Amino acid sequence: MENAAVLINGNESNNVFSKLRKPTPKFQYANVLKTDFIKVNDKNEMDGLALLKNIYQGVVSGCFFDPQYRGIMDKMNYGNEGKTRQVERSELNQMSDETIISFVNEIDRVLVPSGHLFLWIDKFHLCEGTNHWFNYTKLSVVDLITWDKGKIGMGYRTRRKSEYLLILQKEPKRAKGVWTNHSIPDTWTEKITDKIHTHQKPIGLQTALIEAISAKGDYIIDPCAGSYSVLDACKLIERNFIGCDLKTI
Ligand SMILES: C[S@@+](CC[C@H](N)C(=O)[O-])C[C@H]1O[C@@H](n2cnc3c(N)ncnc32)[C@H](O)[C@@H]1O
Repeated sequence: MENAAVLINGNESNNVFSKLRKPTPKFQYANVLKTDFIKVNDKNEMDGLALLKNIYQGVVSGCFFDPQYRGIMDKMNYGNEGKTRQVERSELNQMSDETIISFVNEIDRVLVPSGHLFLWIDKFHLCEGTNHWFNYTKLSVVDLITWDKGKIGMGYRTRRKSEYLLILQKEPKRAKGVWTNHSIPDTWTEKITDKIHTHQKPIGLQTALIEAISAKGDYIIDPCAGSYSVLDACKLIERNFIGCDLKTI
């Protein structure tokens, strides 16, 4: 039987300004993972969906999901992609919409009530919408952060310098008491200096967000971890990490 989160405060409120704080229950490893095959606070080489299916229901405070989708590459239709440029990127496994929806449904299941999903998207998904990914979940969009990478990329018209982090929250939706740092700006500039993965995300931003939505010892997950930037962030602030990638670098 699934291990559902036990809510410590009794009263429910859907008001985002509610003063009610529901502390994340403290889970032991054995109550989070259904198997001891998956290592906590370490790298796991496996499929992200399989990892998610091995996590109990309602035990994780936050999830970072950085899907490997074609998005901007299909839109821009670069003829020489994979030949003379973007070789590293085009060798990574690409995800279909159907796969992304399966991941999102599992993430929704494992999050605690009022837990957060941080979803990295490109500008085309931002403009054309991702709502169909969340149709069968208790997740809704609560905020957006623009990451200014501090370096210029490609583009036929403007040249890309930013990526977007969509912030979703599982029901009940509330900010007060659940999101504890109100000084994070919605445009974040951070240059990656020690790049080991083509899609590596900024550790400073991810650390600030984890700290804002969780307490020491809480579980944070990343089912497509790449360079394991989220693991590094968790180590800095004493959160437990569960994550994997198809390939370990
Ligand atoms: C956009 S990158 C993630 C980068 C990461 N956020 C970082 O900071 O380094 C996506 C990663 O998903 C991995 N991936 C693709 N399909 C996967 C799957 N089914 N399960 C686990 N990882 C997968 C790819 O190997 C790639 O490393």
